[in-house]
Amino acid sequence: MSQNIITIDGPSGAGKSTITRLVASRLGLRYLDTGAMYRAATLHCMRAGIKLDDPKAVAGTIKSLNLDIELVKDGPVKVRIGGQDVTDKIRTPEVTRNIHYVADIMEVRDWLVAMQRKIGQQGDLVTEGRDQGTLVFPHADLKVYLYATHEVRARRRFEELRQRGLETTFDEVLKDVTQRDHLDMSREHGGLRKALDAVELDTSTLTPDQVAESIVKLAKSRLAMRTRKIDKDKLGLDQHKA
Ligand code: DC
Repeated sequence: MSQNIITIDGPSGAGKSTITRLVASRLGLRYLDTGAMYRAATLHCMRAGIKLDDPKAVAGTIKSLNLDIELVKDGPVKVRIGGQDVTDKIRTPEVTRNIHYVADIMEVRDWLVAMQRKIGQQGDLVTEGRDQGTLVFPHADLKVYLYATHEVRARRRFEELRQRGLETTFDEVLKDVTQRDHLDMSREHGGLRKALDAVELDTSTLTPDQVAESIVKLAKSRLAMRTRKIDKDKLGLDQHKA
């Protein structure tokens, strides 16, 4: 049974990373960015020089991925492949464009999901992705699904890329966002879906701080409810209910 696990899923540009980090830091939980794992798997396949549209080659190459994910308090996860730091290298537009070839492969997903669950075994985790609430941690204490309009998400991504010095146009980013939504939602295994019991939050007109605060409040009341339930169970109170 999971202990203090919060999942935050949603499409790209919904504000997941910033918000998840804020929530983790305010609740004193660890932060896991599962997108970084799919990015690292993609970079590894690109470096291997295989044909990315060959599922067998991708599945075979993943076996040699020596991936190390270090959860850093109050910061982005540190990602290493074979001991080499690739934290920045996994964020290029080229990697982003190629992710779907790798994220669609069942063997890749099974491998990364097992790694995510292992990290989750220790509990005290806020984890963000596409399938965290639906597939990876179906018994999470709190599931959140973040979304925002296409335009807002594209604007955020555009500003982010510009700040990192990458040249692009808003229209290009909007096209990319729309295409990634389609790829993420149509993925057969681990596709982007809202878990039935997830709380939906529209981040279009809210600051990351406001969204994080709502999640923190929800999390505190959920965890308090669970603690009360455990106390009741211990005392056997539920058995005496009329
Ligand atoms: O969160 P991100 O944009 O860094 O994720 C990059 C891609 O990785 C995303 O387009 C789909 C894939 N991904 C996935 O398939 N499952 C996850 N749990 C997280 C990301």
